[in-house]
Amino acid sequence: MINSEEIRKIFINFFQNRGHRWVPSSSLIPENDSSVLLTTAGMQQFKDYFIGKKDALNDFGTRRLISIQKCFRTTDIDEIGDERHLTFFEMLGNFSFGPLGSDDPSDYSFSGYFKNSAIFWAYEFLNKELGLRIDYVTIFKGENKIPYDDTSYQIWKKIGFDDKNIKAFGREDNFWGPTGKEGPCGPTTEIYINNLEVWNLVFNEYYQNQEGKLNKLELPGVDTGMGFERLMKIVQNTETIFETDLFEPLRSDIISKKPDISIRDLRIILDHLRGSVFLIADGIYPSNLDRGYILRRILRRLMLKLIKNNLINYIESFVLDIKNKFSSLYENLNNYDKIINVIFTEFKGFEKTLIRGLDKFDKIVKYNDNKELVEKLFMMYTSYGLPLDISLEILRERNIFLTEKDILFFEELFKKHQQVSRGL
Ligand code: ALA
Repeated sequence: MINSEEIRKIFINFFQNRGHRWVPSSSLIPENDSSVLLTTAGMQQFKDYFIGKKDALNDFGTRRLISIQKCFRTTDIDEIGDERHLTFFEMLGNFSFGPLGSDDPSDYSFSGYFKNSAIFWAYEFLNKELGLRIDYVTIFKGENKIPYDDTSYQIWKKIGFDDKNIKAFGREDNFWGPTGKEGPCGPTTEIYINNLEVWNLVFNEYYQNQEGKLNKLELPGVDTGMGFERLMKIVQNTETIFETDLFEPLRSDIISKKPDISIRDLRIILDHLRGSVFLIADGIYPSNLDRGYILRRILRRLMLKLIKNNLINYIESFVLDIKNKFSSLYENLNNYDKIINVIFTEFKGFEKTLIRGLDKFDKIVKYNDNKELVEKLFMMYTSYGLPLDISLEILRERNIFLTEKDILFFEELFKKHQQVSRGL
């Protein structure tokens, strides 16, 4: 079976042969984009090229780039454990920055390109290079004075798609960006295989300013992103992303040490461990603020799962699995001692709280209704320091879920408590 290392090579070769230069992934700490805490997309390190502030031809010798970008998204952090969500993932992408050349897919030069080449190459890569069958594609149907993307429609028709396999949607689905408060953005065309969105092709034609107003960019560009884990799921025909080789040898290692681990716990450990290791390698430390807090949250949930499954003593071996898998591409994973150290220090700091919290949980969290339950959780927090998200995870393991209203009530209690402690 073809593995992820081979797919990386095929992707790189395919686009290098078409005039692209491979640029290494940027850090998970955005260097060029202070409006977001973490890098969430491949285009972030190239923002200045899209808006014409920098010239790719000068800096790279070509207007065509590719990257395999480390990304971390927090929007779905509470969904981790199901079969498709991830915090950390890798994104394969090709990029073009104007001025445009011929936009002919047989033009393998270094000039900028647009919809025609971008769509044709995406199709060629998936269909011809990897032998995958695209189910359907989506395009932008037009909304709020931004016109219908007839060009993309015509290109997909020319490639051979019929109308029922070209679906048109509005801004919510087929318009991407910007990251943060302002930046390049534009209509998209998305490619679906096995009902999974694999590749998002963004045509950056606009710049959205802080007030949300769209202005036409002087020169349009191409920004594409293909979720690597999803692509590997399709290529390796696995049940979910977690059985792809991108989670090996870690997954086998965990299962060999705890064969009866629940699927949800396994997925949380796989996701949070990979995420933590990559965040730490890029220089983030656990704290109560911003990026540091994101890392702290996933490390603590990870610790809960490792303790529950008697896996905490294997943490070194698990981090080593990740290093072995990824360090040839991401060299800072070789800082293995530092990574382990940061994890151990955080675990040590939280160990007592967690163990005492777990011990008290069943004795204290007895309740008749949700209001009382929230009050008990609040007490677990104020008296024993057990964070709400850890309590929620413990409840979830018992199939108990809180509503939004309950969470608001918790926040209310929290505010009142703060006022009292400040003597207000
Ligand atoms: N920037 C686009 C995305 O993240 C490709 O989906």
